[in-house]
Formats: sequence, structure tokens, C-alpha cells
Amino acid sequence: MSGVATPAADLPYGGVHPDAGPPLKIGIVGVGGVAQLHRRGYLAAGAELVALADPDAAALRSRALAWDVERSFESYLEMFEDGGLDAVSICTPTSVHAAPTLAAAAAGIHVLCEKPIALDLDQARRMIDACSEAGVVLMVNHQLRSHGAAALAKQMLERGDLGDITHVRLRQAHDWAGAPQVRASFSTRASSGGGTLLDNGCHLMDLARYFGSDVEEVYARAATRKYAVELEDTAHVSLRFVTGAIGTVEVAWTATGWEEAFSIYGTGGALEYTNRSGTPIMRHVHRSSPGTTWGETDVSEHRIAGDPSHSRHVRAFLAAVRGEQPVLCSGEDGLEAMRLILAAYESAERNVPVLVSEAPRAL
Ligand SMILES: NC(=O)c1ccc[n+]([C@@H]2O[C@H](COP(=O)([O-])OP(=O)(O)OC[C@H]3O[C@@H](n4cnc5c(N)ncnc54)[C@H](O)[C@@H]3O)[C@@H](O)[C@H]2O)c1
Repeated sequence: MSGVATPAADLPYGGVHPDAGPPLKIGIVGVGGVAQLHRRGYLAAGAELVALADPDAAALRSRALAWDVERSFESYLEMFEDGGLDAVSICTPTSVHAAPTLAAAAAGIHVLCEKPIALDLDQARRMIDACSEAGVVLMVNHQLRSHGAAALAKQMLERGDLGDITHVRLRQAHDWAGAPQVRASFSTRASSGGGTLLDNGCHLMDLARYFGSDVEEVYARAATRKYAVELEDTAHVSLRFVTGAIGTVEVAWTATGWEEAFSIYGTGGALEYTNRSGTPIMRHVHRSSPGTTWGETDVSEHRIAGDPSHSRHVRAFLAAVRGEQPVLCSGEDGLEAMRLILAAYESAERNVPVLVSEAPRAL
């Protein structure tokens, strides 16, 4: 079997609801690198970017001009006080996720917060509680959940197409686009909190929970093999899920080029996705025909088209704000991904398996 195309519109959160009403008014806090991807998502979804906040006056001016946004503020508090916002993206460094989230909740503004939600689980809990008490959406930007392949895989898992999951392999790795140095803000513990295990790993921990179940125990190894940094640039984590399935998370800044891949193995088939084959195709490997062999199986290929995952995730956020869909990646999800990272650091440091229930509460 082969050649089953999957249009983006068939995937969850693939489009704007036909009765979406007037465009939602959006602010962005922090106008650096990742803010560009949020902006692109809002524009693609028909929302209106109306205000920006960043204490870096030059960056703020330049973005406001380039993006044609009239209202810009050096303080997010002033932006919230000025009013007129339905929702905000928090695109600040991770240590500055909590304060603007709490302020947005107090102002009744829905929040899409960058990952990791926080470096401290108690801080993450305060963010969750504040948004819940204020009745606003808190969604975390683990956008791999919205990747076309991941969304389709999730549908297939929920339908039982793979039987019971036996193991998963998740990979995200790169080499800073070939740069000889790690970007300054990522190279010290003080500036970033962690290396590739935190930065790339929190996405994969979230995906592990999304595909599998909660994780009970982790065993991690971390190494610094290429860059002159005080943090790990390479790490692997072995996972044991509460279901008894197992998994592997592989992250690195020591790959060559950008890699994103997952394999999900079940008692009734397997899914394989990699971005390294040129065309974005997820393969469903199964045994449906009589006479398959060791080497030859049935394969259904799903070609993934449409928006990139960041834009899809922004659409999902807006759908949650409008009450059309549940929150795709909640504050709780962000907190649990971070709990797994904290357990993994503890495991790597002590070189022992660590129960997730015994993870430290902060980096
Ligand atoms: N989801 C993803 O795939 C992804 C990708 C990249 C970065 N991120 C996350 O996004 C966040 C930002 O990363 P980045 O690469 O865009 O960083 P960046 O350094 O490029 O941009 C951060 C911006 O925040 C601004 N800022 C700092 N303090 C502020 C404050 N108090 N109020 C308003 N703005 C403030 C800075 O001036 C800067 O312009 C981090 O948490 C990072 O982990 C996520």
C-alpha cells in the first residue's frame, strides 16, 4: 500500500473556524527570535497583531516599524494597562515567562507562553493557578504537538491503528547552523538554565507524554563534546512510561544540520517520521497483506502539507481562546514536561535512574 495524502484541513486545529467572528487582537511580549514565528502564525490565522513590548528600545522600534505595529511599549505592564488585547504571546527569555504571564492573567488576557514554561515548578504552578482563577487560557508553546506528522500520529494512536505502544524514539538535534560558538544567551547556566537537554529536550518530553502516557522513571546521560560551554551539548534519556512502555529521547547541538524525528512502535504497526528525507512524509509500517516477510511490509505514506508547526500551534491557541477547541498544550502539560527535564538532569548528575515523582522542583 502507498500514497495516502493527508490534507492539512483534515488534521485537528487545521483551519480558522468559519464562524470565528472579528479578528482577535494580539500583543507580543519580547520581540526577539521566536516572536517572528508567533507573528507569522497570527497573521496566517487572521488575527491582528496590535501591540509589542520589549525593554530593548532599538529592537522594539525596529520590529514595530518592520511589522507595522502602532502601539509599542518598553514595559509589558504599560501594554496591558493600555488595554484592547484579547491575547498575548510571551516570547521573553525563560526566566521572564512567569511575571508577564501573571500580569496578563490579572488583566484578563489569554496567554500563549513560550517553552519551557518555567525553570521552577512552583513558579509554573503559580502561572497555572493565576490563569485558571482569572478564567483565561494558558497554552504552552510546545509546538511539536501541532506538527502535521505528530497531529496525524496522535489521531492514529487514538483510533488504535498501532495497537498498544511498546516504545517510542524521539529526536531533536542541530549544530547552531554550523556556527563555531553556541549563541551567547544559551552558553551559560546563568543565562539559559540548561543546555540541549532543557532547550530541545523539553519539547520531546512533552511529545513523549502526548504520544505515550505519563512517565514514571528516567535514566539520562549528558555530555559536552563539541562546544566550549559549561552545559551539555549532547544528551540521551531513557524513559519508562506508567503503561510499561519505554522510550528514548535524543537531543544534541552536536548533530550536522537540523534533525527532527520520531518513531512510535506498537503491537500492530509503527510510525516513522524524519525531516531528513527531503519530503515531509510520515510512514505507517504495518502487516495487512498476506505473505509479508522479514524485510517487506506494507507501508502507507502520509505526505504532510500546509503550515509549519508554529503557525498551526498559534491557530490551536486562537481556537482555544474562542472556545472552539480544548487547550492543546496546557500549563499542566508544560509543567509536566519540565518535571521530566528536572528528573533527567538529576539522573545524569547522579548516574542513576530517577523516579519522576522524586524530581527536584527547580534547576
Ligand atoms: N518553541 C520553540 O521552538 C522556541 C524556539 C526558540 C526559542 N524559544 C523560547 O522562546 C523564548 C525566547 O527565545 P528567543 O530565542 O526568542 O530569545 P531572544 O533573546 O531572541 O528574544 C528575547 C526577547 O525578549 C526581550 N525581553 C527580555 N526581558 C524582557 C521583558 N522583561 N519584557 C519584554 N521583553 C523582554 C529581549 O529584549 C529580547 O528581545 C525562550 O523561552 C526560548 O526557550 C522557543
